[in-house]
Amino acid sequence: MLLVTKQCTVVALTFAVLCAVVPPLTAVNVLAIEPLPARSHWTFMRAVLIAMATGGRGHNVTAYTPFASSSAITDGVCNGGPIGCGYVEIPLRLGVPDKVALDVQRAIADFADQWRFVGIAVDKSQTACGLLDRMAAAGHFSGVRYDVVVVELVSSECTSRVSGALGEVPLVYVFPSPIASWVEAKALGTSPGPSYASRLFARYAKPDTLARRLENAYGWTVMAALQWFHERGDDQAGYRKPAVTFVNTDLTVEKSVPVVQNMIGIGGVHLPPPEPIPSDILKFIEESPNGVIFFTFGTVVALSTLPDHIQIAFKNALAEVPQRVLLKYEGEMTDKPKNVMTSKWLPQRDILMHPNVKLFIGHGGISGVYEAVDAGVPVLGFPLFYDQPRNVANLVDAGMALSMDLFSVTKDTLLNAINEIINNETYSKNAKITSELFKDRPMSPAESVVYWTEYVIRHKGAPHLKSHALNLTWYQYFLLDVIAVALLLIISVCYIVFKTLQLIKKLIFKSSSKSKSKPD
Ligand SMILES: *[C@@H]1O[C@H](CO)[C@@H](O)[C@H](O)[C@H]1NC(C)=O
Ligand SMILES: *[C@@H]1O[C@H](CO)[C@@H](O)[C@H](O)[C@H]1NC(C)=O
Repeated sequence: MLLVTKQCTVVALTFAVLCAVVPPLTAVNVLAIEPLPARSHWTFMRAVLIAMATGGRGHNVTAYTPFASSSAITDGVCNGGPIGCGYVEIPLRLGVPDKVALDVQRAIADFADQWRFVGIAVDKSQTACGLLDRMAAAGHFSGVRYDVVVVELVSSECTSRVSGALGEVPLVYVFPSPIASWVEAKALGTSPGPSYASRLFARYAKPDTLARRLENAYGWTVMAALQWFHERGDDQAGYRKPAVTFVNTDLTVEKSVPVVQNMIGIGGVHLPPPEPIPSDILKFIEESPNGVIFFTFGTVVALSTLPDHIQIAFKNALAEVPQRVLLKYEGEMTDKPKNVMTSKWLPQRDILMHPNVKLFIGHGGISGVYEAVDAGVPVLGFPLFYDQPRNVANLVDAGMALSMDLFSVTKDTLLNAINEIINNETYSKNAKITSELFKDRPMSPAESVVYWTEYVIRHKGAPHLKSHALNLTWYQYFLLDVIAVALLLIISVCYIVFKTLQLIKKLIFKSSSKSKSKPD
């Protein structure tokens, strides 16, 4: 009896200690805003928000987005979920067209050149921020007391202003690319150096030659300068720093770099549990004797807008492979090879998980990269713009991919690449190794989201997580003031030593000339 009581006391004490360490958190209200009309960005943010709504005790998420779903769909999010779960999407009218199914060449002209891109991106962000400022001023977000604001860190920190407008509510950033690049240093307090970390627009996984380091350092500098130039007229006094930032990154496909402690990598958060494949597609996959190739260029660019010679090269090469091909294609394809099945939409994640899928041909968008890595499927990449060349280069570096240039592709080069990846086991073996690394984590990305969001709320914005670097000016950050003092000291010492030596020389000279001139 005594023993039992003792045990009970121990259990009760343990719980008391646990509760003292992690005070329970009741459901909170989350305001989320997706300020960019880019579907892949929203896919990432939506996964973060659904984790918040359905994880732990559940939270009440109100999301403003250009891609709002109907209430029938959003109601389903909390079906069978925890008590506190609430999830609603409200359309955000940005007054700019959605970035989906673009003409390939136009998209490349806008997004591949960092000189153009950074300017366009910062200006677009500020247009969106202007709209958010007006909405906040008009009381759009003021009916409810929000406990945390989630917003995408786009190309300018201006999206952070909305959290200040609501009365200093803790700010959570989501960043949909694998590296925050030009906004990282200013918004988060540190940024990996160009000597070892490839910037967002790099075409290589690591800057491992002098030429690449030169190009990389030049690129970082240009991006920082462009951001400064395009942001200079903005109200920067309203910029706020995040309590925590969720980045679409993961160490298996990214290189290890130093980051601030409140930057949390949650690459793969958008991967839902696999679902059954529709029966016609499943039949097509399972009845293929030599496996299946899955081919898509994602949602941003339309395959049907590719120049004819490229479309013909693709069709002719695919007609000759012994595999069947599942191809995402808008509309009817003329002269479709017999082994090809096209569809406007394909359940990409579920298809890649099927063991009969041997190869993924894609453009290297980060969502597709994580889907391929998770499924352990090798990749043939045709990177187009933005982070895609770097994403594919990372997969090539992991030994699970080949990278090709879309505009110089021919039937023969394509056939060779496909056959090499499918017939040489190295690629699929490395894909399996990468997949195992990807899945080996202390907690799932969705659990990380819930943990850190609740942490920030529990600790009132968790100001202790912020880097002191954020309080410094740029010349303090780069130690220019310290270097100036050190130089001053060194110069002063040299000057004093020089003057002393001069004095000594003079004295010696004087005395020696005196002694010389002394008559014997
Ligand atoms: C969730 O928030 C919305 C407003 O954003 C509010 O109308 C609703 O009542 C809240 N639901 C719960 C369960 O608190
Ligand atoms: C398979 O690919 C690897 C990596 O590219 C290469 O080193 C190896 O020689 C290839 N093997 C064959 C049999 O071609």
